[in-house]
Amino acid sequence: MLLNDRVVLITGASRGIGQGIARAAALEGARLVITDRRRHALEETKAMLETLKTEAIALEMDVTDEQQIASTVDRVQSQFGRLDGLVNNAGLFLPEPSLDATWKKTTMQFDVNVFGLLACCRAVGAVMKEQPNGGKIVNIASNAGKVGFPGYAAYSASKAAVINLTQTLAREWAEHRINLNAVCPGGVATPMLRSVAEDLAEKQGGSVDEIYNTLVPPQLGRHVRPLEIGQVVAFLLSDHATIIRGQSISIDGGETPY
Ligand SMILES: NC(=O)c1ccc[n+]([C@@H]2O[C@H](COP(=O)([O-])OP(=O)(O)OC[C@H]3O[C@@H](n4cnc5c(N)ncnc54)[C@H](O)[C@@H]3O)[C@@H](O)[C@H]2O)c1
Repeated sequence: MLLNDRVVLITGASRGIGQGIARAAALEGARLVITDRRRHALEETKAMLETLKTEAIALEMDVTDEQQIASTVDRVQSQFGRLDGLVNNAGLFLPEPSLDATWKKTTMQFDVNVFGLLACCRAVGAVMKEQPNGGKIVNIASNAGKVGFPGYAAYSASKAAVINLTQTLAREWAEHRINLNAVCPGGVATPMLRSVAEDLAEKQGGSVDEIYNTLVPPQLGRHVRPLEIGQVVAFLLSDHATIIRGQSISIDGGETPY
């Protein structure tokens, strides 16, 4: 198995892609720390991990709360004595036409998607730096961070920042044996994609379900599944990915050809 006994912390693990990553990492033998801003929301993921007999702890952690991040990292240290992988998956999507964009929604998206992600990298990086084998970090960016989607300027820009941060930290922390990569999903069947459909239905009219069903990568002809994103992330957390550094890999069924 790719992640036998590795300890991996996942943010935003209560549903969607975070849940798919938890499942894929568990199937590859990882021990898991699943976190989300609401502890009770983690029950479903926790139950799924129990059926797989995966050693896991579920902790409330809002990525915009530095104290919660610090106490999570302390707890992981005391329980497992190591932290091999971090997946920065927690994300916020608040669509707004740019001309009407509010300061509040713009900064909220940057707080979670960029500053929260960076705070998690820093807290976990400090632990990994002291470990003989360093560690691996995978950031969940978006194809919106490469292309820039109309109507989603702040979200797209926040994901572009994730791509750039991943490049910078991969170069800066290589000397500490910490390897960072990002993935850029698109068209993944999750509640967030459903909120894209709801936004489009409100703007253009039409049925949310019908619009949701069109939000598929045309080359693939169906939604990407959260588990499929998780399988790529598990590979990037493994030793096989040691030679891949600072990359932002599109995993959107071919929609973004770079
Ligand atoms: N679904 C897609 O097609 C798609 C495409 C590109 C990128 N992404 C990215 O993938 C990641 C997961 O997206 P998803 O589609 O599963 O979304 P989702 O909305 O279904 O899940 C997001 C998760 O993040 C958690 N979260 C939000 N704010 C948080 C905070 N402050 N602290 C801790 N947890 C928080 C939520 O509780 C939830 O569990 C996000 O970063 C998103 O931007 C998704």
